[in-house]
Amino acid sequence: MKLIDGKTLASGMRREIAAGVAKLKAEKGVVPGLAVILVGDNPASVSYVTAKEKACEEAGMRSEEIRLPAETTEEELTGIVRRLNGDVSIHGILVQLPVPKHIREKAVIDAISPEKDVDGFTPENIGKMMIGDECFLPCTPHGIIKLIEFSGTEIAGRHAVVIGRSNIVGKPVAALLARKEANATVTLCHTGTPDIAHFTRQADIVVVAAGRPGTLTGGMLKPGATVIDVGVNRVPDPSRPKGYRIVGDADFESCAGVAGAITPVPGGVGPMTITMLLWNTLESAKRAAAR
Ligand code: GUN
Repeated sequence: MKLIDGKTLASGMRREIAAGVAKLKAEKGVVPGLAVILVGDNPASVSYVTAKEKACEEAGMRSEEIRLPAETTEEELTGIVRRLNGDVSIHGILVQLPVPKHIREKAVIDAISPEKDVDGFTPENIGKMMIGDECFLPCTPHGIIKLIEFSGTEIAGRHAVVIGRSNIVGKPVAALLARKEANATVTLCHTGTPDIAHFTRQADIVVVAAGRPGTLTGGMLKPGATVIDVGVNRVPDPSRPKGYRIVGDADFESCAGVAGAITPVPGGVGPMTITMLLWNTLESAKRAAAR
């Protein structure tokens, strides 16, 4: 069994991105700028945005941190997004999801200019992804494709099973795996699938993004399968200093005994999500510099 080390792949790519940032700065005088907006103080979201801001600065980019109280209204939030749409020093706008319940996620995403949508969440970018036009690809799905390639797993002609149909991961990763470039046969399982194991047992590649620990166990896998675990779940653990530990959606022990390759949690998909965000932000700044 091979551990797919997302940190190693991410650090190599981040060096390349940092070199691209330095080149853009030297040749065009442009420093890529990313605005990171967090509404409220959900602990997981706080740790994600902190990691994103740190990675941004380590790559030589500028990050503008915008922390807003949980009571912020939809109008206030979309107003801030619109101001950032018109700010030439900002090339990427990220609103960390989920937003508080009184704010419509769709209204927020719709407010982001597709040209600065480095998360790849706007209908314009998702539509372009579906028809194969140039666009910002959503970060976690794009990072997953890079990880599968990095693991040495052949994708073309293989059967990939995705568990979870979120707009952020499940649906777009299924679309990317099915594109001509990847050329997998794809099955998308979700909470309405009566017997998920029936499908995963036939899978060469399983991407599990269900948001629930223990969704995938070793008994559900074909021997030698490649497993990409997108889950980030906090489970109570009094033996840890913080009182919890992070586990994925796959039961690591049992899956590792059957899989050919598997991503750890943490240290698998997470570092790649952030890396692809940096990639998109650099790309956006390059496009702005060329205009
Ligand atoms: N919440 C969970 N994943 C993501 C992500 O990739 N981007 C944003 N903006 N919010 C998220």
